[in-house]
Amino acid sequence: MMICNVPQISLLLLLSLVPHAVSDTTAVLPCRSYCGNITIDYPFGLRSGCGHSGYRDLLYCINGMLMLHIPSGSYRVLNIDYAYRSLTLHDSSMSDCYSLALSTSATPATAATDGFIIEPWRAPYLAPAPDNVFMLLGCHADSPLFQGFPGKHLPCRNVSGMGCDEYYRCPAWQYSKFSARKGDSPYGSVNPPECCSMEFGAIRAINLTHLGCQGYSSAYSLAPLRARGPGAWSYGIRVSYSVPADHDGDCRGCQATGGVCGYDPATEADICICGSGQNSTSNCDTVSSSSSIVKWSSSLASLIGGLLIYTVVRFLCY
Ligand SMILES: *[C@@H]1O[C@H](CO)[C@@H](O)[C@H](O)[C@H]1NC(C)=O
Ligand SMILES: *[C@@H]1O[C@H](CO)[C@@H](O)[C@H](O)[C@H]1NC(C)=O
Ligand SMILES: *[C@@H]1O[C@H](CO)[C@@H](O)[C@H](O)[C@H]1NC(C)=O
Ligand SMILES: *[C@@H]1O[C@H](CO)[C@@H](O)[C@H](O)[C@H]1NC(C)=O
Repeated sequence: MMICNVPQISLLLLLSLVPHAVSDTTAVLPCRSYCGNITIDYPFGLRSGCGHSGYRDLLYCINGMLMLHIPSGSYRVLNIDYAYRSLTLHDSSMSDCYSLALSTSATPATAATDGFIIEPWRAPYLAPAPDNVFMLLGCHADSPLFQGFPGKHLPCRNVSGMGCDEYYRCPAWQYSKFSARKGDSPYGSVNPPECCSMEFGAIRAINLTHLGCQGYSSAYSLAPLRARGPGAWSYGIRVSYSVPADHDGDCRGCQATGGVCGYDPATEADICICGSGQNSTSNCDTVSSSSSIVKWSSSLASLIGGLLIYTVVRFLCY
């Protein structure tokens, strides 16, 4: 008889235990995933119900590329820094130090994005970092940017040592049709500057259509690089995210009991996703006791089953 040797019997015993081990590990982290080489973890999620509801319908993985989708367009996510709670975004339709991407028509509708606009309800969760500079380019003289500040240029200023004065030194401006006017000052509604820099908080939405601008650039810089000028800035959008403090505590309680923080897609209420497909409104302590009994009894059942097979095989073989 084929089955009559000890290694094969041991294999049978082992196989009877394997399915439980596999289902246990997949139940532990139902929401964590990857897109390319970027880890998607709380508070973000790629699936409905995963992460915090403030970040729902936000990230999409398209051909291994992580995209952030908001009303002004889609931006590639280059990195998520979970320790500093920030994301780094790239917008292919924005200007940088080497090229000016400006729409020539009156409305920049042809651009892939219309600046940077976040849904108002998402504002508590997601906002460009305060040390990220936005530089609005080619804005019309009657732009809302220059209204209400007669004789002054209040909204235009440097952010973390980055601003238009330095940006004008970029190669992108060298052959630009704007270069003749770039040094104009004072700023004002008669001679609007070709570039007006500001932090996101100053106007709360970079809506190029509304602001009557032809394009924009955005940069952030790590402190030691600042002195090296606009060629050393990182061009992109650095966004900070935050999770409400009260929820943060609940989530830690959920994680401490082996759960994964998520939300109910129907009600958007926070939930704790526990093993064996059970969800809790607080943590997994209440559900884990019953599920561990299930686990223990199923292990016992497979052990008894295995012993039974072993006994039968032994009986047949000897
Ligand atoms: C991800 O991969 C890209 C190249 O494909 C690389 O430039 C980037 O540094 C990687 N990011 C991380 C966090 O490893
Ligand atoms: C638990 O929550 C997750 C994520 O929302 C959902 O996919 C799953 O169906 C829920 N399970 C139960 C039993 O409600
Ligand atoms: C902005 O920074 C540049 C270069 O550091 C400096 O020359 C300029 O005076 C600053 N402008 C303001 C308004 O602080
Ligand atoms: C941007 O502003 C324009 C003009 O005011 C408006 O029609 C459009 O809806 C705004 N875009 C968004 C995403 O709010």
